[in-house]
Amino acid sequence: MRPYNRILVTAALPYANGPLHVGHLAGCYLPADIYVRWERAKQKDIVFVGGSDEHGVPITIRAMKEGTTPQAIVDKYHKLIKESFEKLGISFDVYSRTSNVIHHETSADFFTKLYDDGMFEERETEQYYDEEKETFLADRYITGTCPVCSNPNAYGDQCEKCGSSLSPDQLIHPRSALSNNPPIKRKTKHWYFPLNEFEPFLNEWILEGHKEWKNNVYGQCKSWLTSGLQPRAMTRDSQWGVKVPLPNAEGKVLYVWFDAPIGYISATKELLPDTWKQYWQQDDTKLVHFIGKDNIVFHCIIFPAMLKAHGSFVLPDNVPANEFLNLEGDKVSTSRNWAVWLHEYLHDFPGCEDVLRYYLTTIAPETKDSDFTWKGFQDANNSELVAVFGNFVNRTFVLMHKLCGGKVPPLHLEDMDDDDRNVFNEIKRTKHQLDVLLEQYKFRDALFEVIDLARKGNQYMQKKEPWIKAKAEQLNERNANGIIPQNSIDNTLHVCLQLCANLAVMINPFLPHTARKMMHMMKVVDKMLDWQNAGKEKLLSTGYSLRAPELLFRKIEDAEMAQQVEKLRNPHAKDIVEEAKDEIVEATIAPIKEEIQFDDFAKLDLRIGTIIAAEKVAKADKLLRLSIDMGNETRTIVSGIAMHFSPEDIVGRQVTVVANLAPRKMRGIESQGMILMAEDADGKLHFMQPANNINNGSTVN
Ligand code: 2FM
Ligand code: ZN
Repeated sequence: MRPYNRILVTAALPYANGPLHVGHLAGCYLPADIYVRWERAKQKDIVFVGGSDEHGVPITIRAMKEGTTPQAIVDKYHKLIKESFEKLGISFDVYSRTSNVIHHETSADFFTKLYDDGMFEERETEQYYDEEKETFLADRYITGTCPVCSNPNAYGDQCEKCGSSLSPDQLIHPRSALSNNPPIKRKTKHWYFPLNEFEPFLNEWILEGHKEWKNNVYGQCKSWLTSGLQPRAMTRDSQWGVKVPLPNAEGKVLYVWFDAPIGYISATKELLPDTWKQYWQQDDTKLVHFIGKDNIVFHCIIFPAMLKAHGSFVLPDNVPANEFLNLEGDKVSTSRNWAVWLHEYLHDFPGCEDVLRYYLTTIAPETKDSDFTWKGFQDANNSELVAVFGNFVNRTFVLMHKLCGGKVPPLHLEDMDDDDRNVFNEIKRTKHQLDVLLEQYKFRDALFEVIDLARKGNQYMQKKEPWIKAKAEQLNERNANGIIPQNSIDNTLHVCLQLCANLAVMINPFLPHTARKMMHMMKVVDKMLDWQNAGKEKLLSTGYSLRAPELLFRKIEDAEMAQQVEKLRNPHAKDIVEEAKDEIVEATIAPIKEEIQFDDFAKLDLRIGTIIAAEKVAKADKLLRLSIDMGNETRTIVSGIAMHFSPEDIVGRQVTVVANLAPRKMRGIESQGMILMAEDADGKLHFMQPANNINNGSTVN
């Protein structure tokens, strides 16, 4: 490995067209954050950049479907995603967005440099065009009959029924997914990057130079390189994106996978306007890209080829991509709403951010796909965090207060025994192991080491039984070796407290909220979390008084898990349909109700909110469970509109919410308000929404 003096860590820029789920966290953001926190604790010069990927066809299509603008879509999800990251402690130094001006300039400059160097080949091709919607159609937005299995709903890039990968020309009776009309062919011009010319470089650089990359990453690169690379169009026909910085390129934007990785550069510029070049253009930088496996080709092949073509940039030292996380034995699917959404988790489990960090790290799909189950989550919390880690820290503090006057007792060197020394040895061994494992991006094994150290702490405490010795002390008895019981108690608790301090330092990269709580209990400053302290026998001074213990983790009850499983599976329950009827605005033109006074009306608190997630309440045909962003909070509202709207069509819509309606339980779900709907003569429901998107939380008077 090259010697390096600074580290630049990137985490994939998520598309800002929907919320993130636990799979994203486990696959990319959590490992990145653990790595960064560890390096930061070592006082390394490190920068962690991220941001939202706000371009691309799916965002424009979504906006079109929802009758809003792409900017409104990305504004909403950028905010939601950023907040989730903050709450979960994903410690980006900058969380930028590709719609920022600095990004448009940076990526346009990048393109221009390659263009000026004669890198692109201009090609005219024929592509499908939707005349009604006046837009070229990305492959995904052409549907038709699969030539292999006759599935009538195959996509222009793939048939999801038989798995064949297709091109739009292969589809029988192609239709535009936007208008359902048959598309026409229209000529268009694009700029192609000659990826094929970089094959020799990539072969050498990856296949020879980076044999240490994870097997899954290396293997995928090898298979791409063996099949041969083709020139790639780096522009698209669209109004949404970075404009192609050339004359006569009206209606052309950069391909989203051209500009998105450049987003890492723009974000660094935004953070460090004067020094960003050190991180990107000096050879002694270690660049690490954290991504999920679906991004491997872009980060290991296409982006490095772009960087190489540009000539001024460093290349990644490693791309420790993870595999996928499944959910309860099934693939995560956003369209089927088979996902645990981060913002919902944060809402449902306040104060349990580290529990999710813990569980996801223990099941991280580092080498193969893994499975999230609510049972596994509960077990990880109750049997490991509560019973092992929390229990050890709590016992130590309780006993220290009870038997040592709330202060760090002295270590009586002359009375130390092998058990005491073993604990210190274990602390050192664990620190060494952590360094080895984290350097290799083995976060899961590293976390096992920390929890194992806490387990050893419990075993040690159990063996030493200071509470029994306390009784002997009261009776003024000496033990068989002639040691004064209080000396033995002191030693045990001294060792346990030093172990607690070490656990705080070592757990910090993984569970930063927990480490903070422990720092508070120990009344020590942040400096204590420096990694150089890990492995030390004396972190807390004798005689130093410590606070009472705080509960680090709470038990998670079966009922909470049952609710989550139910939320996923939406099991049948009859009464909800009845209850929900009240929620539906009456369908017929009803007589005007009894007159009310202004004060009656003024009692209503009507607010504007945005639906950020929607799911069917299965078998309760009429009900949708909505998550509504109310500006300062997210509400769950069960609404009887399922016969009129499908969940995927209404996410992103603004709605009017009766915000001060008393909450009601509906089919086990607490509905925190209701949304207003208008109903026309045909019984069709319409959202009551502002003519233009406005801030969530705005009042309606
Ligand atoms: O797969 C995705 O979610 C992409 N938006 C990742 C982009 S990573 C980088 F290139 F910006
Ligand atoms: Zn097929």
